[in-house]
Amino acid sequence: MPKDADAKAGPAHVAIIMDGNGRWAQKRGRPRLFGHHAGARRVREIVEACPQLGVKYLTIFAFSTENWKRTQSEVAGLMSLFRKYLKREADDLYQNGVCVRFIGDRIRLDDKLVALMDDLELRTAENDRVHLTVALNYGGRDEVTRAAKRLAFEIEQGRLTHQDVDAETLAGFLDTHVLPDPDLVIRTSGEARISNFLLWQSAYAEYEFVDTLWPDFTAEEFASVLNSYAKRDRRFGAARVCE
Ligand code: IPE
Ligand code: IPE
Ligand code: MG
Repeated sequence: MPKDADAKAGPAHVAIIMDGNGRWAQKRGRPRLFGHHAGARRVREIVEACPQLGVKYLTIFAFSTENWKRTQSEVAGLMSLFRKYLKREADDLYQNGVCVRFIGDRIRLDDKLVALMDDLELRTAENDRVHLTVALNYGGRDEVTRAAKRLAFEIEQGRLTHQDVDAETLAGFLDTHVLPDPDLVIRTSGEARISNFLLWQSAYAEYEFVDTLWPDFTAEEFASVLNSYAKRDRRFGAARVCE
């Protein structure tokens, strides 16, 4: 984003840490996966709300590099949900003008899931109504580490020198290299931490932590969070200009 991004214009790029699926299910005496299914259904409503709210880029955190620590059955259930979700939603996403991208390391994901991700990226590449980025097996430290490794390889090969290393060059090796930085990061479920999400890109993002559990987060609440963002004063390190 340009350094003078105006909060009043609304956030062009919103990133969401979709948290609270497990607690949502627990409150209903159901297994955690029940909550993940409910959470996945909520995504469509939020994506569809974006154009009228002026949100061009939406990035959602679906699975972190740390989420492998969960039980084998929860991880397998989530991977199967991702596959089902991509199959079920692909046509509508394409027809609704959504350009879909994935960030995160694909190396640990199963081949069938990766094939669905590749297909959807390819199929929706020309869409421009909303840009939806799904973070899957994503961790900010992992992303920066992989970028540094690729940069080191370019230097080793003689295509770059250490003099070329600056913030812009490094950012060019991140998974998000084609995306603007997020203006607003929302986390649901009442936890006030970022859990390794978009570490580099969120340097000047605004944060909003809401208590609602992700499966209960509606388009109305999304709109009201954006309204509160519009009242903020973003300075990017500069002094406030007195009028
Ligand atoms: C977020 O919900 C979804 C994923 C991390 C995959 P959680 O599963 O973390 O739900 P809580 O935080 O346990 O309630
Ligand atoms: C962050 O939520 C990851 C996703 C929403 C995918 P977690 O539930 O994994 O985060 P922690 O463990 O509470 O920090
Ligand atoms: Mg959680």
